[in-house]
Amino acid sequence: MPTHVAIMMDGNGRWGKQRGMTRSQGHFAGAQALERTIDAALELNIKILTLYVFSTENWKRPKAEVDDLMKLPVKFLHTKLSKFIQKDIKLIFSGNINGLPEPTRKAVEIAAEKTKNNDKLTVNFALNYGGKNEILTVAKTIISEVCNSAMSVDGINEETIEKHLFTKNLPSPDLFIRTGGEKRLSNFLLWQLDKTELWFTDVYFPDFNKQLLIKAIQEVNQRDAQKLS
Ligand code: FPP
Repeated sequence: MPTHVAIMMDGNGRWGKQRGMTRSQGHFAGAQALERTIDAALELNIKILTLYVFSTENWKRPKAEVDDLMKLPVKFLHTKLSKFIQKDIKLIFSGNINGLPEPTRKAVEIAAEKTKNNDKLTVNFALNYGGKNEILTVAKTIISEVCNSAMSVDGINEETIEKHLFTKNLPSPDLFIRTGGEKRLSNFLLWQLDKTELWFTDVYFPDFNKQLLIKAIQEVNQRDAQKLS
């Protein structure tokens, strides 16, 4: 079983459109699939699940859709947080959290604080996250440490960068899943995915389920077995 699974939850908008619904209704269905995926990860004893819920590029979408996407975590955490606490799930958030609207920022900070001692499953929401923005932020922090003489240029190595990433306390993902048919990384975990097995499906995220998660795990395990034989 992989320790850390990262999922790019693509296809919500198309799922909604296909059913004569709005894109935001597609995102709402995506949030329901997200809850099912968290339950599936718990049942499968996966330790860390990283979910790409809002990218730095997503701000370019129409304002009404961005507003709905920002409200979704607030509503979701309001109704589900006690359930996550009960299930011993830790919620963490990677990305530029200070750049979020106040109600969203508050909701995620409260969720992180209330679940910080849980340890059955860590759910890492990549929220206002971009891989390039993450690496840029790391570069700026390290440069200012060098300027303050807190670090020497010769002392900088890969571990230094890893220690400054948004995901600093997490091992790299063993498995990356992208739903919705596209086969690109789209600015997700650019540093962390260097050795990760990539798995793609045409299924839109609102239709993602435990069976597909198991299928992804089995297929990449077979790749590993073939490498060994
Ligand atoms: C990509 O699909 C998906 C997103 C930009 C948002 C993902 C968000 C959720 C699944 C819900 C988040 C909920 C919580 C509780 C944090 P897309 O809109 O790009 O779909 P498309 O490719 O069909 O246009």
